Amino acid sequence: MTLEQTLSDEERLAQLDADQLRQLVGLVEYDASGDPFPVSGWDALVWIAGNATQTAHFFQSAFGMELVAYSGPETGNRDHLAYVLRSGAARFVITGAYDPASPLADHHRRHGDGIVDIALAVPDVDRCIAHARSQGATVLEEPHDASDEHGTVRVAAIAAYGDTRHTLVDRSRYTGPYLPGYIARSSTRVRREGTPKRLFQAVDHVVGNVELGAMDRWVDFYNRVMGFTNMAEFVGEDIATEYSALMSKVVANGNHRVKFPLNEPAIGKKKSQIDEYLEFYGGPGAQHVALATNDILATVDALRAEGIEFLSTPDSYYEDPQLRARIGSVRVPIEELQRRGILVDRDEDGYLLQIFTKPIGDRPTVFFELIERHGSLGFGIGNFKALFEAIEREQASRGNF
Ligand SMILES: [Fe+2]
Repeated sequence: MTLEQTLSDEERLAQLDADQLRQLVGLVEYDASGDPFPVSGWDALVWIAGNATQTAHFFQSAFGMELVAYSGPETGNRDHLAYVLRSGAARFVITGAYDPASPLADHHRRHGDGIVDIALAVPDVDRCIAHARSQGATVLEEPHDASDEHGTVRVAAIAAYGDTRHTLVDRSRYTGPYLPGYIARSSTRVRREGTPKRLFQAVDHVVGNVELGAMDRWVDFYNRVMGFTNMAEFVGEDIATEYSALMSKVVANGNHRVKFPLNEPAIGKKKSQIDEYLEFYGGPGAQHVALATNDILATVDALRAEGIEFLSTPDSYYEDPQLRARIGSVRVPIEELQRRGILVDRDEDGYLLQIFTKPIGDRPTVFFELIERHGSLGFGIGNFKALFEAIEREQASRGNF
């Protein structure tokens, strides 16, 4: 499969070419012919929110996303509301219960705001499900067609960690705004003068937090059931502070478009950030979404102007001679990064710039990362320690440390 062939219609529409994606999210060439579960990319991140109307507004007003489609009582959906938002190649669907008896209301009571479905674009839903079933995966929805005047979508779903699922979507025969049942709808909001057209262009990775001892089981699930390969692992000293620790392994699909770091808590003197997540989310779930941007400085400035809060990075991080030596020269002066609290990491392939928001909802669970890659395919391992110390300060202020 060439890189051009891996581009989805959405990516072409978003005017992202293969070179940009290679840079943005570390896309690689791969041969899909021997892949038992070919995945071409992300289809959507589906959220459940306590108030989808306001969360959709927040993602538009603060994160610059565009409303493109909608489902709700006006379209015959008496169960819930759903707002479909886009930013470049990224698609978020924000759902919230309309009927008090909706299963979404139960899910929200248990987990709070978060990601319920990491939907993936696949060229052959039936082949994926047949392979997944042969490997013992739980099939939540059998392959079926959904049609309207815009064509037909083939979908199915399998269970992932906790109450999270992967819906598999083949929309190659569909031209509608999202899925049958949705109508096109656009933002009424006017973009502020001087803000970038988009604050991010794609989803880079989604991190899953699982229980102590469950990480290897889920790595095995993604290897065996979905044909993902292992990219990196982080254990021990690198990702431990004096007080808390975690372990992390990363799996990716063939073209590296979809990357899933999987974390589990490790034993430390105090409660780790993963333990805090598991307690407040009520079990395993998606912890953070890394949003790929080609100008992290402009994005951070625009998000700050809208009131988004980021984890702070101590000045000592930037003044550390070891860090300065390790990162070498990057595209902007270190002082510009320091002013914004942006972290830098470098490996043999290049460097990356990254920053993390505080949790975006009421519970200390899901948050965002912004990432600007320059050749590095890593996840910022050199920053883990500095980052965790910042998270521990936040945890302590919530009385959960
Ligand atoms: Fe990340």
